[in-house]
Amino acid sequence: MIRFGIIGLGKIAGRFAEDLALHPEASLQAVASRSTKKARAFAKQYEAVSHYGSYDALFKDSEVDVVYVATPNHLHYQQTMDALEAGKHVICEKPFALDATQVKKMINKAKAEQLFLMEALWTRFIPATEKVLELIGQGVIGQPVSIRADFGFPASQDPNGRLFNRSLGGGSLMDIGIYPLYLSYLLLGRPEAIDAEATMHYTGVDSHCHMELSYDEGQSAILESTFLETTPTEAIIEGTEGGIYMHPRFHHCQAISIEKNGTLETLELPYMGRGYYHEIDEVVSCLKAGKIQSEKMAHKHSMDLISLLDAVRSLIDLRFD
Ligand SMILES: NC(=O)c1ccc[n+]([C@@H]2O[C@H](COP(=O)([O-])OP(=O)(O)OC[C@H]3O[C@@H](n4cnc5c(N)ncnc54)[C@H](OP(=O)(O)O)[C@@H]3O)[C@@H](O)[C@H]2O)c1
Repeated sequence: MIRFGIIGLGKIAGRFAEDLALHPEASLQAVASRSTKKARAFAKQYEAVSHYGSYDALFKDSEVDVVYVATPNHLHYQQTMDALEAGKHVICEKPFALDATQVKKMINKAKAEQLFLMEALWTRFIPATEKVLELIGQGVIGQPVSIRADFGFPASQDPNGRLFNRSLGGGSLMDIGIYPLYLSYLLLGRPEAIDAEATMHYTGVDSHCHMELSYDEGQSAILESTFLETTPTEAIIEGTEGGIYMHPRFHHCQAISIEKNGTLETLELPYMGRGYYHEIDEVVSCLKAGKIQSEKMAHKHSMDLISLLDAVRSLIDLRFD
């Protein structure tokens, strides 16, 4: 049994805990919040063995094998470093940290301590993404030539909330733009050139970000993220011999349609639980095999992804202190 500890008991922590309960080889050992009362309530709801009113106390719990970091973006770096320092394996929410310098240090630390470290980019592990990779690998749509992907919803414009607050590492790019950007990286690799434009909110983060990526063999990606309106939140992958449509919301889709020779076939690809089961399963498999990184979401992938985010941030002048 792999014993998980969760720090930061917000929205995503609850969903993760739900899916953890479905896994036969994973258990919820401990949870930690800044508030003991909140930790107690969460532990009761999700049947955690222990609960703590500080994150550091959880890092010291010898019964915890792996820590899931589910706090706002600006805390990922330090909390991952602290958990690794305490001898814990770590799975940390996306974006892995605020910039490439931080991610590099996290990876170096994990390697130095010989501990497992993975970015919790759940999209990589769901059955639909696996199927898209398989189909492309088999050449079903020929060579992929273009991707269009978007993610948009009208977010609450609370300046103190996680999404619009610059000091918490907010903005549409870091929160949801990361998904289309990751999809383009997963399918087309690192682009040769990036162009980006953003609408900046008065709080100093982007409320909307438009990205255009071009690749050395002529491929392209047009990507969008926005907190201002609902957008289709779909992905269209065009190839030389067909196309794949990832149904909304593409980053956790449960169906894809394949267009080829004028016919359209739809495949239902349900995920387990709320979709987080599959990343949990990857952590369990890697830890059982004694690995310090996942091959599917390897350190290099996280390094490349944060470098792309850095490049876009520089173009739209989104700075974190
Ligand atoms: N994979 C996904 O599908 C997905 C979806 C949403 C978000 N995320 C990522 O998960 C992380 C958390 O997102 P969330 O939506 O769960 O956020 P959330 O509901 O605001 O929860 C974040 C938790 O972090 C803790 N925290 C510590 N310091 C904080 C501070 N200064 N301000 C606010 N909270 C603080 C709080 O827990 P305590 O009060 O218990 O200490 C809070 O409940 C983000 O990095 C986000 O990008 C991933």
